[in-house]
Amino acid sequence: MTYVNATGYQEQRFANLEGLDGLSALQVAEHLVLYAGYVRQVNILNDELAALRAQGRASGRDLQFAELTRRLGYEYNGMILHEYYFSNLRGGADPRPAAGSAITAALRDAFGSVERWQTDFRAIGGMRGVGWVLLCQDPATARVTNHWVTLHQDGVPAGFKPLLVMDVWEHAFMRDYAANEKGRYIDAFFRNVDWATVERRLCEPQAMRTAAA
Ligand SMILES: [Fe+2]
Repeated sequence: MTYVNATGYQEQRFANLEGLDGLSALQVAEHLVLYAGYVRQVNILNDELAALRAQGRASGRDLQFAELTRRLGYEYNGMILHEYYFSNLRGGADPRPAAGSAITAALRDAFGSVERWQTDFRAIGGMRGVGWVLLCQDPATARVTNHWVTLHQDGVPAGFKPLLVMDVWEHAFMRDYAANEKGRYIDAFFRNVDWATVERRLCEPQAMRTAAA
């Protein structure tokens, strides 16, 4: 997902965002500028922390070191979740996953049907507050679950693989929709889900946690 070189993380380009249905080019362009800010802030934070370490200030009692360290989760997830989000959109996408696909089977196993899963995912998106909705897969069991993430960092299930990521910060839609039209934005999001990308993110269970217990 994220590319890094000697100078830090590199902002990604997304060739898949042209021609989205219900999300304008202006909305997407503005959102990409925000995303670039997270990449920049991750690099700045890492540089600042490296400088503090070089000064022997890597201490939990050093307020600057502690505060910059606390910000890492916010900035890193702000970068990474946006990359998942932008790369699971595509103009001309299919409105639902293919009937015989692995993602359809995973959603049916966990929720009973794709429709029930989507009802749950949409309901989470309608919750008050800014954050994200994630469809994730537990790599230990291959089971999929929906999650709410407050801001960028609170509520991310450790080690789970994001499969489908929806940004429900107001900046994600307020160029195209009013503040009270998040539901219309979520409708538009679902007209642009690139299900082939979601399917590719699925992984086989690496170890069965129940077997190891
Ligand atoms: Fe965003």
